[in-house]
Amino acid sequence: MLKILGAGLLSLQLVTPSSATLLYVSSYAGTITTLNLTVPSGDTSSASIDTISTSTGCASSPSWLTLDYPKSLLYCTNEGFTTPGSISSFKTNNDGSLVQLDQLDVILGPVSAVVFGEGGHGLALAHYSGSSFSTFSTADPSALAPLQNQTYTLSQPGPNATRQDAPHPHQALLDPTGQYILVPDLGADLVRVFRVDKGGITWTAVDPLVAAPGSGPRHAAFLRTENHTLMYLISELANTITGYEVLYNSNSTLGFTKLFVTSTHGEGKSVPDGTSAAEITLTPDEKFLVVSSRGENSFTIPNFDSSNSTEIVSDALISFSVDYTSGNLTHVQSYPSGGRFPRQFSVNKAGNLVAVGLQSDSRVVIIERDVKTGVLKRFLASTTVAGEVTAVIFNE
Ligand SMILES: *[C@@H]1O[C@H](CO)[C@@H](O)[C@H](O)[C@H]1NC(C)=O
Ligand SMILES: *[C@@H]1O[C@H](CO)[C@@H](O)[C@H](O)[C@H]1NC(C)=O
Ligand SMILES: *[C@@H]1O[C@H](CO)[C@@H](O)[C@H](O)[C@H]1NC(C)=O
Ligand SMILES: *[C@@H]1O[C@H](CO)[C@@H](O)[C@H](O)[C@H]1NC(C)=O
Ligand SMILES: *[C@@H]1O[C@H](CO)[C@@H](O)[C@H](O)[C@H]1NC(C)=O
Ligand SMILES: *[C@@H]1O[C@H](CO)[C@@H](O)[C@H](O)[C@H]1NC(C)=O
Ligand SMILES: *[C@@H]1O[C@H](CO)[C@@H](O)[C@H](O)[C@H]1NC(C)=O
Repeated sequence: MLKILGAGLLSLQLVTPSSATLLYVSSYAGTITTLNLTVPSGDTSSASIDTISTSTGCASSPSWLTLDYPKSLLYCTNEGFTTPGSISSFKTNNDGSLVQLDQLDVILGPVSAVVFGEGGHGLALAHYSGSSFSTFSTADPSALAPLQNQTYTLSQPGPNATRQDAPHPHQALLDPTGQYILVPDLGADLVRVFRVDKGGITWTAVDPLVAAPGSGPRHAAFLRTENHTLMYLISELANTITGYEVLYNSNSTLGFTKLFVTSTHGEGKSVPDGTSAAEITLTPDEKFLVVSSRGENSFTIPNFDSSNSTEIVSDALISFSVDYTSGNLTHVQSYPSGGRFPRQFSVNKAGNLVAVGLQSDSRVVIIERDVKTGVLKRFLASTTVAGEVTAVIFNE
């Protein structure tokens, strides 16, 4: 299905001439959809986005996509919900199609994966409902092999007993050196830390970062400046961003010095009841931090179906500029995410496009972004993807 927003101001310096970009979208409908985004040079008002391929190989509940672009490999986690979860590997083709290489049952509830270790031969998973962290060898992507796992418990529920009934690892990400895997745990108010063994794909758990009680750490983003390593942690329950300086201790552990904690809408700002913060991303030029905030219903915007005059409700994407010496964030803009529940979004390498997955609206939108100012400018394209959209990534 193709939907285009009406003309706005032309932006001639936009994307490279008549560029076509592929994106992959995961949905709880049980699909991975490949989209083809075309932005004609000099006429961004006629950008188009088409579905060119669909795969059902990730099983019932695709929750996250991890692309190893140089190797043309795509990994998809199936959250599983009632059955075990699974992980699938695919070869990506230039025509947008995916060829499934393997599928392996894993602990329940994987919601995030990251490539790690020597040769990029490891894949680390965070399991939300399975309260676990686990790793796999992808040395042969056609023969995924389990490596290590840990399952966690709580002696008593956290401050938010409903959401913190058990540990809930929510993301697996690497530090800038690739020597550590970090796993924000929403249920346990921790960021778990795993040191990757040099030259290999095995790991050892080391001291975690203890986050604020009841905050519900969800995702994080790193920034390495000339003199510092900074980590920005977004917490779903508290709707905060916490800035840390990361220290590389001589005993091969990480230390964290808290620099500040701020609302996801910026210093001193409150969020509407029912808000739950979701994604956090540093832009490719490392000058801006962008977060998504769900359940706000804080904007009404024109319908993406131009023949429909009923406005639609939208949550928010919030952009901040980063001060390199202090790590401080300055609020730049709050912009409509293009619908409800922006669970995940991606910024392309050029920094001029943001793709947003709207979980509650079965929609993906593409937003034009000003690389210099960090401001989101307008909706370029929108398309329907059946089911609850869980992730959208650029094929680059
Ligand atoms: C994407 O769309 C453009 C413009 O229609 C077309 O030239 C290109 O072949 C498409 N790419 C794929 C992989 O289908
Ligand atoms: C988790 O690791 C243990 C060994 O620590 C192993 O016995 C078990 O099979 C693993 N579970 C999964 C689901 O990989
Ligand atoms: C727990 O978190 C949810 C949001 O996920 C919120 O709606 C609820 O009010 C919180 N409960 C408490 C006791 O803070
Ligand atoms: C590692 O060193 C840090 C900083 O000196 C210290 O706080 C931490 O307790 C040490 N951890 C272990 C496991 O020795
Ligand atoms: C128009 O948009 C509204 C809001 O998304 C929707 O509820 C309604 O079904 C749409 N009407 C038509 C005719 O598509
Ligand atoms: C990094 O530290 C050096 C030496 O202290 C200093 O000269 C430089 O200005 C610092 N750079 C930044 C970006 O703060
Ligand atoms: C960073 O923010 C803190 C308050 O959180 C303020 O005291 C400090 O001056 C700021 N630093 C810079 C360089 O803006």
